[in-house]
Amino acid sequence: MTRVLILHGPNLNRLGKREPEIYGSETLDEINQRLRKLGDRLTLSVVAKQSNYEGELITEIHEAEGNFDYIICNPGAYTHTSYAIRDAIASVEVPVIEVHLSNIHAREEFRKQSVTAPVCIGQISGFGSYSYDLALQAIRELI
Ligand code: DQA
Repeated sequence: MTRVLILHGPNLNRLGKREPEIYGSETLDEINQRLRKLGDRLTLSVVAKQSNYEGELITEIHEAEGNFDYIICNPGAYTHTSYAIRDAIASVEVPVIEVHLSNIHAREEFRKQSVTAPVCIGQISGFGSYSYDLALQAIRELI
C-alpha cells in the first residue's frame, strides 16, 4: 500500500480556535480523522503528524525516506521563511506536495512567496481543509 505522511507545521494544532474566519472551525484531529478515512477509500495508508518546531519538521522529512512514498506538507509560516525546510525537502527522494488551507497568494504580501514550493512537486492552496483531500486525490492519480 502507498504510504503517505501528512506533516502539519507550526500553529496548525490551533485549528478550530485559530482565526476561524481564515482557517475554518474544524480541529486538526477532525481533519486528520477525515483524511485517514479518505485514505482508506483510496487505499493509501495515512499517518499524520504535527510539530511547532522547525528542526522536528526537518527530522520528520529526513526520516520519511524509506518509510513513506509521499509527503503532504503544510509548513505553516515556515513556508515563507525556512530555507532549512526547503533544503530538507530537496535532500530526500520522497516527493512532497505543499498544502495550505488559505489562498496564500490572496493574503498579505509576505505570504505570497513560498520558499518551499519550488522543491515540491506541486502546491494546493485555498480550499480550506479540503486542500489536503485534493492532495491525497492527486497522489492516487500519480501512483
Ligand atoms: C497556512 C498559511 C501560512 O501563511 C500561515 O502562516 C499558516 C497556515 C495555511 O494553511 O493557509 O500557518 O500555511
